[in-house]
Amino acid sequence: MLVDEAKRAEYFSDHPSDVTLDMVDMARIPRHISCIMDGNGRWATSRGLARTEGHKAGIVSLREIITACVRLGVDVLSAYAFSTENWNRPKHEVNVLMHLFAKTFIDELPLLKRENVRVVFLGDISALPERTRQVFEYGLTECSEHTGMVLALAVNYGGRAELVRAARELAQEAAAGTLDPDRIDEDTVASHLYTAGLPDPELVIRTSGELRVSNYLLWQIAYAEFYITDTYWPDFDRWELIRAILAFQGRNRRFGGLNTAS
Ligand code: IPE
Ligand code: IPE
Ligand code: MG
Repeated sequence: MLVDEAKRAEYFSDHPSDVTLDMVDMARIPRHISCIMDGNGRWATSRGLARTEGHKAGIVSLREIITACVRLGVDVLSAYAFSTENWNRPKHEVNVLMHLFAKTFIDELPLLKRENVRVVFLGDISALPERTRQVFEYGLTECSEHTGMVLALAVNYGGRAELVRAARELAQEAAAGTLDPDRIDEDTVASHLYTAGLPDPELVIRTSGELRVSNYLLWQIAYAEFYITDTYWPDFDRWELIRAILAFQGRNRRFGGLNTAS
């Protein structure tokens, strides 16, 4: 992805004492960074605020990470915003989240346009409340000509539901005689996932310290590097992202082979 180096230097000029942009190997920025944006509720309750205030603060972080990833030349940024299991939360919290998603997409359209960000949704957005779904569809058409970084938003997403959907589609094609079951390979399966056409995540970041996957991108993370930080998502900023990338660049990715470190 083409990067404006002057803008990048400016965006990362005000650095904390332990990290600078110079420490990052720009030739080895992960192509696809994925964030499990967790800890909004705890961020809020630790401040005596309603959980929903944490979700609002989390939007500010997402905006910063979108811009940071554009400046770094990341090809794909994906973010887990709402899981198929999150419907189990109190109705009020779900309603606030659905409203926030719609409002945020509209509010951030100027940013997405300015930065040429293409948006895709991972998950079944047809099952979202009418207003949220309509706003998403409108926003998607507004960004459809964009050719820059892909922002993949996982909303009403579940890794298992995604695999069931793929299995059903493959079975239907086989039953219709348009797909030979013997020809199904990994690429065929991948092409039936919400992430079809996107590279797999190389770096998955989970905030708030939880050591689990929570039904996220089960197929796609087969060889992702994980970075878990105790920082709550609303406190996750551009420098936290740089720390995650530095950790990634320090890893030895073997993919089942032998040590490739020189
Ligand atoms: C992540 O923050 C946002 C969503 C799942 C929608 P949480 O709301 O899970 O925050 P915690 O984990 O309860 O602190
Ligand atoms: C995962 O966070 C889903 C999102 C970040 C949207 P959760 O807070 O829902 O995960 P669990 O319940 O702790 O596993
Ligand atoms: Mg959580």
